[in-house]
Amino acid sequence: MQSRMQTSNEVKDVIKEWIRKGGENIHVSMIGKIETYNPQTNRASITPVGSFTAPDWQEIPYPTIHNVPLQFPCGNGGKSGCTFPVKTGDTCIIIFADHQIENFLSGEKSDDMRNHSLNDAYAIPTLFSDGVPTLKSNANDYCFFNEGSLAILNGSMFKCTLANGSTFMLSGSTFTFTMADGTSCTVGGGDVVVNGISVVHHKHPGVDRGGSQTDEPV
Ligand SMILES: [Fe+2]
Repeated sequence: MQSRMQTSNEVKDVIKEWIRKGGENIHVSMIGKIETYNPQTNRASITPVGSFTAPDWQEIPYPTIHNVPLQFPCGNGGKSGCTFPVKTGDTCIIIFADHQIENFLSGEKSDDMRNHSLNDAYAIPTLFSDGVPTLKSNANDYCFFNEGSLAILNGSMFKCTLANGSTFMLSGSTFTFTMADGTSCTVGGGDVVVNGISVVHHKHPGVDRGGSQTDEPV
């Protein structure tokens, strides 16, 4: 039986299929859900969202990937940075490194030449939702928030409101704070005003005018 010569288009299709199949195990980036996170080791177990199609066309959920380092913006050898709580169910961006990352993480030597493997994941915790209120209410401010407390920083003021209602605000000319129990204080203009009473200008009733000085407060 004589074999038929393949057309150039058929050859292209075969090569495309090889590339497609070869690429099935190459992972670049996925959305993931955090299953567990250990802040002591900064390692998470993360399940990529979605599923992949097996050769028999079965849809199989991605396996959970363990020991994934989370990436927080940090520098200065770990002495500067920003960290926040990470909880089960949080979403993240998983990145699969071009080459194995064990050498970097453990300092050990491995000659594994794998590429974009599920074993070489690191992840950036983030939200894929429009449910971040400060993005809508304070789009031009630097905001950081945690468990009902909110700090807002911009070019002219720094305001912090705790979950219990206590606030302070530092602006160009004044520093004010109000405690949750109602105590208020304003500093500025050469004076300190506590609950409406000026430290500089307050007067004491029931004192006769004269040359003597009062004692210090007791
Ligand atoms: Fe006084």
